[in-house]
Amino acid sequence: MINWRIEEEGFDQERISSHGNKFLVGNGYLGIRGTLPEYEKKEFVAVNLAGIYDQVGDGWREPLNAPNGLYTYLRLNNKEYRLPQSEPEQHKVSLDYRHGVYERSTTWNAAEGRLTLLTQRFASMDEKHLICMRYSIKVEDESEQEIDAEIFTGIDAEVWDINGPHYDELNMRTNAEGNTADELIMVTGTTHESGDQVGVYETYRFDPMHQQEIVIEDNKILRRLTFKMKPGKEYQLFKFISVYTSKDHTDYEKLGRELVSASKHTGYQKKLELHSKQWEKLWCNSEVMIDGDDEAMEALNYSLYHLHCIAPRHTDHLSIAARGLSGQTYKGAVFWDTEMFMLDFFLFTEPEVAKTLLKYRIDTLPGAKKKAEYYGYQGAFYAWESQEGGYDACSDYNVTDVFTGRQMRTYFKDKQIHISAAVVYGIMRYVNYTGSLELLADGGAEVILECASFYYDLLVKKVRGDRYELHDVIGPDEYHERVNNNTYTNRMAKYTFDSAIQILRKLVYQDVRIEERLKDRYDLTGLLEQFQDASDRLYIPEPDQKGGVIEQFDGYFALEEVSIEELKGRLLHDKEYWGGAYGIATHTKVIKQADVVTMLNLFSQDYEEEILSKNWEYYEPRTEHGSSLSACMYAILACKCHMPEKAYPFFMKSALSDISGKGKEWAGLIYIGGTHPASSGGAYMTAIEGFAGVHLEQGELKIKPCLPPGWNGMSFPIIYRDELYRVEITKEQSSIHNLGKP
Ligand code: BGC
Repeated sequence: MINWRIEEEGFDQERISSHGNKFLVGNGYLGIRGTLPEYEKKEFVAVNLAGIYDQVGDGWREPLNAPNGLYTYLRLNNKEYRLPQSEPEQHKVSLDYRHGVYERSTTWNAAEGRLTLLTQRFASMDEKHLICMRYSIKVEDESEQEIDAEIFTGIDAEVWDINGPHYDELNMRTNAEGNTADELIMVTGTTHESGDQVGVYETYRFDPMHQQEIVIEDNKILRRLTFKMKPGKEYQLFKFISVYTSKDHTDYEKLGRELVSASKHTGYQKKLELHSKQWEKLWCNSEVMIDGDDEAMEALNYSLYHLHCIAPRHTDHLSIAARGLSGQTYKGAVFWDTEMFMLDFFLFTEPEVAKTLLKYRIDTLPGAKKKAEYYGYQGAFYAWESQEGGYDACSDYNVTDVFTGRQMRTYFKDKQIHISAAVVYGIMRYVNYTGSLELLADGGAEVILECASFYYDLLVKKVRGDRYELHDVIGPDEYHERVNNNTYTNRMAKYTFDSAIQILRKLVYQDVRIEERLKDRYDLTGLLEQFQDASDRLYIPEPDQKGGVIEQFDGYFALEEVSIEELKGRLLHDKEYWGGAYGIATHTKVIKQADVVTMLNLFSQDYEEEILSKNWEYYEPRTEHGSSLSACMYAILACKCHMPEKAYPFFMKSALSDISGKGKEWAGLIYIGGTHPASSGGAYMTAIEGFAGVHLEQGELKIKPCLPPGWNGMSFPIIYRDELYRVEITKEQSSIHNLGKP
């Protein structure tokens, strides 16, 4: 049994940033960092919005943080009580991650008595534009003496940005001119680059007798609520906040105002119930139960909580950023993380969301074609760090050298060509698991053909010999840049050719709808011939004769052999970048993250188990696991090699990445802190596809359990081809029950 709550006692300034991630609440439209209501931009407060970006000058283009409508602090007899300024006697923050409800409780020894402040808030899962908060205060004291209390509450438009400020204009107002007792306060920010409007609307309910005055200062519009407070009595303020942008609706302002007014009318408690009900619905199709290991069950479901918080359910074409909705790190951009690490969770629990993620890739095909064209290639080269329209936000200089302060040329954008194959992989996986050809008919088929054309154009055709190669690429291990024949990349390119061939065959023999649309634009027979030839001749490095190890790229085996510990000893600075031109790992066999191992996971059926385990054993000690994407790949492959005891620590590392808060926060001098949804998705994949061994056999859902020591069983739902199944695994037996339509 788990209690679905994580909490931390005590106040520590050092934990402000990690708490922001750990206690995040979100609903896919927005994410609110787990910060206190009185916090400001220096405490990394963010109401991070999905899919809307802005660029200022030469700074990185990044997603918007909305003005913070939760902003509230307290004053008693002219003295402020807020963190981090005033030392508390007790402090606790907690998250009910079954229902996405954040709470704080702080006690101060105030001159007036023992002051307790409790706050609770949620980003409504029922109404994606709505945020609600309850703020209660109580002073306990023997005396009957009344206290002069003031609550300052409103919207803080002094927003935390990494590369901002993004609002050129801030319009702060109430909804009736000159009347200080207004119902609503609002802020509209106009973005720098494209003049989008972000509107935040707030109203409140505070029943005790009080006076209200509107104060506008320092980019904040606040209500100053003054009242006489009696010791022993609890005072509750309720806030209703809505966030809309001009991209959501032309009438966004009207919608924003109406939503908060209606929510106030409905009341906080009812809104909380509706919100919680939606969360319960989500868990019906996603909760994973583990018998015998509560710590793992908690960490895993907490990971799933984070995936639920960032699922774009409010639209049918949006993807998820590498750091979810936890802020502007990684430019709020979409990486291969989505298709390769997060997709399966949605595919198995909410296929509609999986489709939304892939629709984003279909919609951004023009951007991918433009990128390919820029480099002089045919087809579609997807953005390494994709924003709106497929714009590649990845900069040429993604890392700052800690010694010189100069920017270092990195080639992630230009050379991580495996991104296009990840998109193909996602679409094909959707097709295989849902059995629906709809995505293909809606543009997915073109995406696959265009990606295959891109790889076809990149093939290096040897003058001697008849094999094709791929040169000058970066594989998942980013420390070794510009290598030839990265096995992962080559194999994924072959997979892309094979998928395109499958599509083309389907076109010819089955799906008339797709064929009709494509045949005017493509020479289908010609493409089929080309892709078949490419697939047959593309070089895929084989396990070496002696040890069965597959070389990660040409020349890898000749690099320096050094242990990770020894390599670490060569660091001159703790934030030094390990890869690129002069990195300490560049000339060694030490790799950043699973590379060959990722390939083996995807294509395990092509190899003997002995080869899988030999490669696991070879590469693991050489892997720094410098990316949170790495551990789960080792965990899954360990399961495939029947080594669940070896898989377990890697699984836990993935599942705990946001609870432990130990993730890497710096790449060179660049802040990369935030939540780790790919790691969460990887933990899910390990549990379901690794420990439970869920897989397809001739189109049928099968399991092949391989539980780690201490686990007595597992039970979880899974959606396959529009039917809901329940998988039950015990030590004695395992079964899959069909429960009908989800
Ligand atoms: C990893 C990439 C990953 C990116 C975003 C990098 O550190 O090397 O593989 O896509 O982070 O999570």
